[in-house]
Amino acid sequence: MARRRQLYEGKAKILFEGPEPGTLVQYFKDDATAFNAQKKGVITGKGVLNNRISEFIMMRLAEIGVPTHFVRRLNMREQLIREVEIIPLEVVVRNVAAGSLSTRLGIAEGTQLPRSIVEYYYKNDQLGDPLVAEEHITAFGWASVQDLDDIMALALRVNDFLSGLFLGVGIRLVDFKLEFGRLWDNEEMRIVVADEISPDSCRLWDLKTNEKLDKDRFRRDLGKVEEAYQEVARRLGILPEAGVRDLKGPETMQ
Ligand code: TMP
Repeated sequence: MARRRQLYEGKAKILFEGPEPGTLVQYFKDDATAFNAQKKGVITGKGVLNNRISEFIMMRLAEIGVPTHFVRRLNMREQLIREVEIIPLEVVVRNVAAGSLSTRLGIAEGTQLPRSIVEYYYKNDQLGDPLVAEEHITAFGWASVQDLDDIMALALRVNDFLSGLFLGVGIRLVDFKLEFGRLWDNEEMRIVVADEISPDSCRLWDLKTNEKLDKDRFRRDLGKVEEAYQEVARRLGILPEAGVRDLKGPETMQ
């Protein structure tokens, strides 16, 4: 494939110009960062696994009518996506207390929340992605009230769907982060799920043992990081294992 022009390099991904107008190529690196890039490392094979896992999840979301930027996977580390205008928000959905919610509000990790909670963070590395309220978002014009209605509805649909999907393979979806983009079809604007959905952006705990199967293994130096990402892919039925098992769908856990 001809060398493509690089448009943007982030902490875990690179965006290249796509083959047609309105498309981009999203390349998944093995690089990992945490705490706003104060901690840096490499998780061998992460890019390949996240490319696969995000492809799988975005395709399942499209099947239930949740629009995403995903078009198709191109190779081991790259996927074709629609070019969108990224809304500068990290939208976090939480089902179980963990991470910054536990720290900020003093709620023990693992506490089931009375209902799913949606939080917005302003996507700005210099500021360390601060938590913001709807008031800030609409006042500063990052998104309109209508955009936020759409974002909230999509985030909750994704949460319900992914909670069930992961539960089916013995994993609790503790929390996750979504990003959204604006996609124009002629004059019409639609909000779509963008970026990636992977163990980098989700907290995934084994249902029986509470073992962490996500990037917290890297953030907290728990070891077996590569293995955790592989285990998620394996349970979703997308890690090539041996022969005929390669093409299997999700593995149902008892
Ligand atoms: P938090 O508890 O650190 O706020 O994280 C909530 C969720 O968002 C968790 O699943 C990890 C994910 N996340 C990201 O994807 N990117 C980030 O920069 C941060 C801070 C969290």
